[in-house]
Amino acid sequence: MNDLEKYILENTGNQTCKWSHYAGIYDRHLSKFRGKEVNLLEFGVSHGGSLQIWKRYFGPKARIIGADINPECKKLEEDQITILVGDQGDKKFLGSILDHMPEIDILIDDGGHRMKQQVNTFEVLFPHIKPDGVYACEDLNTSYWHRYGGGYKKKGSFIEYSKNFIDHLNAWHSEQPHRLNISDFTKTVDSLHYYDSLLIIEKRLREMPYAIETGHPSTNFYLKKTLAERLERLWLRPIGYKESPTSLAPNRKAK
Ligand SMILES: C[S@@+](CC[C@H](N)C(=O)[O-])C[C@H]1O[C@@H](n2cnc3c(N)ncnc32)[C@H](O)[C@@H]1O
Repeated sequence: MNDLEKYILENTGNQTCKWSHYAGIYDRHLSKFRGKEVNLLEFGVSHGGSLQIWKRYFGPKARIIGADINPECKKLEEDQITILVGDQGDKKFLGSILDHMPEIDILIDDGGHRMKQQVNTFEVLFPHIKPDGVYACEDLNTSYWHRYGGGYKKKGSFIEYSKNFIDHLNAWHSEQPHRLNISDFTKTVDSLHYYDSLLIIEKRLREMPYAIETGHPSTNFYLKKTLAERLERLWLRPIGYKESPTSLAPNRKAK
């Protein structure tokens, strides 16, 4: 059992509610911030239990902001924990959070779980996550629930919206730049991790990937193929060599 699981299961502080599999996932992606000066923003305070658990997990140098629509939550402030009151569907409120925390290491969206709230929070605050930060959107099960504005393949659900992230992560390889081009997302996102009801986005500054070829070709077939590909990079077409789907398109930069 990791510490986070332990702190949740043995919690005697304020109440929290998380799906049972979240603690293992969070520990996998967030343990690198433990003991550091980490800035954590969580939407959805409720009884304040998760904020207290984050404080215990990350330690005395952590700075934690909880944001909630319920003004009652304000009284749950304590050392290291600030509570901001507002609607996460409101882009103005979202922008104002940056006055309190201009650079965010970890953002956890566990607020209203409605589609517009999740999308607006992502659009306003994702660019302000630090280059090695982590963005988590919880309870994506609501993307399949009509009462939250979701539904299977429903346009505008957060799941459907986030499926586009996969294309942007891979945009370096796009042959249709007018439709899919390298974006800030392409240049700043390292990986997407989809779990049941939880999406984790890990950031990292990236450059255009390139292939590393080492060792010797092992058969004649590969020898010919490698030679053909090398000639092709010089824009020469060897006679009798058929272009394969993997060969470089003329408008592409050589790797
Ligand atoms: C699931 S609870 C949060 C649980 C808490 N994060 C925990 O793990 O213990 C959801 C919270 O989101 C808040 N909420 C609902 N709609 C909201 C909105 N539009 N903006 C901000 N917070 C909202 C609710 O008041 C409620 O406190």
